Amino acid sequence: MRDSIQNLVPYDAGMTHEQLEQEVGKTIIKLSANESLWGPAPSARNALQNGLNQLKFYPDGAAQELKKALSILWALPVENFCLGNGADEVIQMLATAFLNPGDEVVIPTPTFSSYASSVTINGGKVTFVPQKELVLNLEEIAASLHPHMKMVFLCNPNNPTGTFFSHTDFEQFLQKVPPEILVVLDEAYCQYATEPNFPRSSELLRKYANLIILRTFSKVYSLAALRIGYAVAGTEVIRELEKIRQPYNVNTLAQIAATAALQDEQYTQKVIKETVQEREWLTKELRQRGLMVLPSQANFLLVKVNNAAVVCEKLLQEGILVRNTASFGLPEWLRVTIGPHQYMEQFVKSLDTVLSD
Ligand SMILES: Cc1ncc(COP(=O)(O)O)c(C=O)c1O
Repeated sequence: MRDSIQNLVPYDAGMTHEQLEQEVGKTIIKLSANESLWGPAPSARNALQNGLNQLKFYPDGAAQELKKALSILWALPVENFCLGNGADEVIQMLATAFLNPGDEVVIPTPTFSSYASSVTINGGKVTFVPQKELVLNLEEIAASLHPHMKMVFLCNPNNPTGTFFSHTDFEQFLQKVPPEILVVLDEAYCQYATEPNFPRSSELLRKYANLIILRTFSKVYSLAALRIGYAVAGTEVIRELEKIRQPYNVNTLAQIAATAALQDEQYTQKVIKETVQEREWLTKELRQRGLMVLPSQANFLLVKVNNAAVVCEKLLQEGILVRNTASFGLPEWLRVTIGPHQYMEQFVKSLDTVLSD
């Protein structure tokens, strides 16, 4: 065993949806993993049907069609993209490609857990920078950086808080970061952001060679089961990632569905519009009940309920699965995914029942 994994514990994926339904004895609405409950674009589903003919062949290891579509979306050459088996794999690849044992990486917390585990697995050393206000404070994060450090991970909007930092603040941050330090900006949820000053990351990518942007098809494109995400960055960074990428890391069906999803902008915009409407509705409903809800730019809300473990368990018995954020160091909060209106109504109704117990 590698020394670096001695204190790690395997990721616990919990029970499947079906197992939970069997255990609880009723239909469960899953609002725990920030998937898009609107489902993928119909054109992506149709494209998948045709893709079934290709199952006997290996995928296109270079993912040429998808990279062409990404190249149009970002107005960048295909050499600026590296695809992964989920953004999760790209995070792992970044740590493998750029960290030597003992290299320091800054991670503000609370945030998505994959950054720390990937760094640790690859022998890096994590410096956590706890964010007291639950909003990433870029000035404080910049102050914690030293030129010998290798990398910093930022998630915007952040998981699990849903809060965001602005274009102006991010650009000021980039100006302060020594150019040798890689800045990994995870924008898994950026399509849901409505704030006018949300970072225009594509613009910044062209100015800062140490910036790496991560995107996923698991959220707004609703393709979580297929496992596909990517990095956009300068060609020098991408070249290093390509060196360590498994030849066929992204399967054919994922490539086909992602390419089709990118072409159905009308459907994507519809999903975003409805998600934002439901986010506003749910925020208002919860605040009217006196609950603290962080302002969210993502497809989930972080809600303070004091004893989240108990509330989550009771909600489950009502048929609602949400995320207890104790593993993020926030045991008083729960995270709920925004979904179509009937699910949001069901969630509010069940929460009322549970909180009046
Ligand atoms: C911030 C963030 N980044 C990345 C991911 C993982 O994305 P993928 O499903 O593409 O591995 C998630 C999943 O929840 C996430 O919340």
